[in-house]
Amino acid sequence: MATKSLDNKNSSTSGTDTSSASTTGAEGSSKKLASVDNATVDKNEMNSSPLHKFFVSALKDVYYAENAIIEALGKMQEAATTDELKEAFEDHQLLTQKHVKRLEKVFKLINETPEQKECKAIKGIIEEGEEIIKSTEEGSMTRDAALIIAAQKVEHYEIATYGGLAQLAITMGHDKAADLLEKTLQEEEDTDYELTEIAETFINFDAEQED
Ligand SMILES: [Fe+2]
Ligand SMILES: [Fe+2]
Repeated sequence: MATKSLDNKNSSTSGTDTSSASTTGAEGSSKKLASVDNATVDKNEMNSSPLHKFFVSALKDVYYAENAIIEALGKMQEAATTDELKEAFEDHQLLTQKHVKRLEKVFKLINETPEQKECKAIKGIIEEGEEIIKSTEEGSMTRDAALIIAAQKVEHYEIATYGGLAQLAITMGHDKAADLLEKTLQEEEDTDYELTEIAETFINFDAEQED
């Protein structure tokens, strides 16, 4: 996963410089550049394009997801065994509130209203986390080891979403929106890394000792 995260970051950085689509090779770049020109020339046309509609729909989807994650992190924090993991969940809950605010800015930047659209993927991932709480013993390290994996599934979902949306924003000429989406992408990647660190420092080893 670390490789995928780096790929996202690298392609985002190079895309900012050229504003052409660095993720699709040379073949697609002239087409993409043309769509950036259209976006500048005719804003109305851009706002009704299928890609713009998809972009807005995907933003609504992740806006729903971030709000659902705030609630889920509260439950995971309560259920966690160690102070380290409780703190990590609390920190990320605060960060997730910022992600919601940032998405509201993105909607504003592209003249759209923030709306939530039910995201089945995140609902499933969160349900899985709730199952883990039910099926592991309270106060056990096994619960923490399992909760970390559940939380990382959430982060990886977000990394995939923000990585793709930031690239689309660059392609469509929404540079300010792209910057905000990339900022959140970076924070999701950092959180994923921190969770791995916590697991590998002691939680996984202690869980392995449990009967
Ligand atoms: Fe987030
Ligand atoms: Fe996150």
